[in-house]
Amino acid sequence: MRSRILLGIIAFVGLSVGCSKLVPQAPESNTVLAEPLADLTQNQLTKHLIGDVLFAKQYTSDEGLGPIFVQSACENCHAGDGKGSKFNTVVRFGYYNADSTWNEALDIGGPQLQPRAIANYTAESVPNNVMSANLLPMNVTGLGYFEAVEDQYLLGLVAEQAADGKVSGRLNYLDPPSYFEPIKTRIPTNGQYIGRFGRKSSSVNLAHRVTVALVEDMGLTSDNDTQDPINFGVGENVSDGAPDPEISSGDFDALMFYMRTLEAPRRRDADNDDVMAGEQLFTAVGCANCHRATMETGSSEFTALNNVEFYPYSDLLIHEMGPELDDGYTEGNVATSEWRTPPLWGVGLQTESQGGELYLLHDGRASTYDEAIQYHGGEAEFAKDIYNFLDDDNKELIFTFLNSL
Ligand code: HEC
Ligand code: HEC
Repeated sequence: MRSRILLGIIAFVGLSVGCSKLVPQAPESNTVLAEPLADLTQNQLTKHLIGDVLFAKQYTSDEGLGPIFVQSACENCHAGDGKGSKFNTVVRFGYYNADSTWNEALDIGGPQLQPRAIANYTAESVPNNVMSANLLPMNVTGLGYFEAVEDQYLLGLVAEQAADGKVSGRLNYLDPPSYFEPIKTRIPTNGQYIGRFGRKSSSVNLAHRVTVALVEDMGLTSDNDTQDPINFGVGENVSDGAPDPEISSGDFDALMFYMRTLEAPRRRDADNDDVMAGEQLFTAVGCANCHRATMETGSSEFTALNNVEFYPYSDLLIHEMGPELDDGYTEGNVATSEWRTPPLWGVGLQTESQGGELYLLHDGRASTYDEAIQYHGGEAEFAKDIYNFLDDDNKELIFTFLNSL
């Protein structure tokens, strides 16, 4: 079976690749991770730019930072709107109750560690006897496309994969936060909604993710969540001194707007022969079963996001990835070894936002593409095995393709 697939692949690569795709001209590389969507009106562009400034703003304790926090600005972790480095991961933790349900450890400072504190207050440390994971910040570009994908489309992908039998992606259903306002294309099951943001899809929409980012990463309260994080070992004896909500609704809206309207990273060299050969291999090996080249949005108020095909190299589904990627930590109904397929768009530009280094996978443990692939197991074991049959030149073609994303 395997050797037949391998022969097929070799024949495949032997083909000369003739067709060329229509791609946008490559812009200056240092701008590709921070562009607004095309076709924004002047007013929308202004709002986008206000959000951009807030994303980079360093908050102080007078403005509401803390009393405990991880960083003082979104951009400190999401440098250049791209991925953070191994040195600014967040630590999340929890533990299993006696009845095997997951406990977010809220009463002992979970689910996220805030290792820094404002003056005269004590930072947290990870309690004993919990399971934890380090999570690397994610690209925040192109998220408007993900939000505009309809639930029906995701359910279709789950059904397609189940019928196909190669991989078996699924969805994380969550109890939505009180401020969640479902649009009509969201399809609840027993009152729960599909999660789509975060490494384990534990946020139902961007408003949810941004609310959590503000409070858990920076100790900033908003209309959606007026409760500052505190160190339970110390109590509420010192506050950050700022009245709640610390972020005005106008600032929250602008930040959200910025997240919705950042363009996806653009491809470079997509019509290069080696890049095209690499993409064919990527598909033939089975990588594209999860890292899907194309997805489609439903209707959107933004022309650029309205019923369009886009190219994330992800399926936005949760997959079982085997024991090596199992940190014993989970969120929602996702198993400890399950992760949402990360989009690979922008992966070739990633070193620019990671200080010249490459940090891959949920905690940044891999520093080369090959290393990241070797950690793939579970549903991706088969694709990895086929990849490992390739000779170095063919592996290199896959890397060349990844660098074009
Ligand atoms: C301390 C570092 C840190 C800071 C500060 C931070 N983030 Fe993040 N961000 C992360 C990490 C880590 C993840 C992945 C977490 C997860 O899986 O839930 C993430 C994920 C996200 C996502 C989800 C992306 C996706 O594809 O699902 C969004 C949106 C986001 N952050 C926005 C923000 C905003 C807005 C701010 C500022 C208010 C912010 N972040 C501040 C570390 C940070
Ligand atoms: C079963 C689904 C699946 C298949 C098949 C699969 N991947 Fe992945 N891939 C994932 C998931 C899920 C992650 C995230 C794992 C984590 O963060 O720990 C990932 C992570 C990655 C990353 C790191 C991305 C980043 O930003 O950190 C790369 C690169 C990658 N995959 C390439 C490949 C290649 C090349 C193949 C084919 C040999 C492949 N993948 C096959 C699901 C899959």
